[in-house]
Amino acid sequence: MIHWWIRRLKATDSTQDQVFRMCGSIAPAPGGTVVVADKQTRGRGREGRKWLSPAGGLYASVLVRDEDLLEFASGDQNRANDLGAALPLIAGLAVADVAESFGASIEIKWPNDVLLSRRKLAGILCERKTDAKGANVTAVGIGMNLVESPLETAAHLEEIVSPLQKPVSRDDILRRILDAFAARLARADTAPEVEKRLHGRGRRAYHDGAPVIIRGVSPSGALLAETDQGMKKIISGEITMEEPKGAA
Ligand code: BTN
Repeated sequence: MIHWWIRRLKATDSTQDQVFRMCGSIAPAPGGTVVVADKQTRGRGREGRKWLSPAGGLYASVLVRDEDLLEFASGDQNRANDLGAALPLIAGLAVADVAESFGASIEIKWPNDVLLSRRKLAGILCERKTDAKGANVTAVGIGMNLVESPLETAAHLEEIVSPLQKPVSRDDILRRILDAFAARLARADTAPEVEKRLHGRGRRAYHDGAPVIIRGVSPSGALLAETDQGMKKIISGEITMEEPKGAA
């Protein structure tokens, strides 16, 4: 059972950095600490990319301790390891649960994108560090577009929330995501749940330039892909979809 301690900020450099700073003191922040900011001046995404963070979006980092994972796994260390490795997908499923509760059809693009109509609704960034007492912690960063973004490739939550369901506040969305995240951590079905929503499943793609066919994901969140050398477990890198023939 995890308890959420939500710290709200008007602005910060990155909620990831903020949550890690809270782990650096002699009284490191407990698991379940959540930092949410109205905007970020140095928001970051995977692979060193920037994450533009103007006011109006959801920018939150959730602190998960390895001991929390062990508790969710009922003391089973192998399962706790799988949960830790699959955190980006589990957080993606939590965002998907919330978007789907508004009637949206969501895809998850391995390893960390939540897609709505093939455009990016949210991105997840998981980073690991050791706290001031030597314990391992992960900051699960969630960036979600709530309102229209200038990026053409972005989708936003407001486009799927009907007038009847409004107003839905950022805090309400965050709460729902956190509850869904805890529920997902307690379940043992990450792989099939991701596979139901896996973007490009059964289709040809490229992994860091090499051709593959996307087949599924493992319990530890690795991408299972068919290659010329047989089935491969992919744990890092970029996947680019092959465009269907005839596409412009
Ligand atoms: C990605 O798609 O590359 C991941 C984007 C993650 C962005 C979130 S916003 C909250 C948290 N703070 C950051 O600086 N990044 C993550």
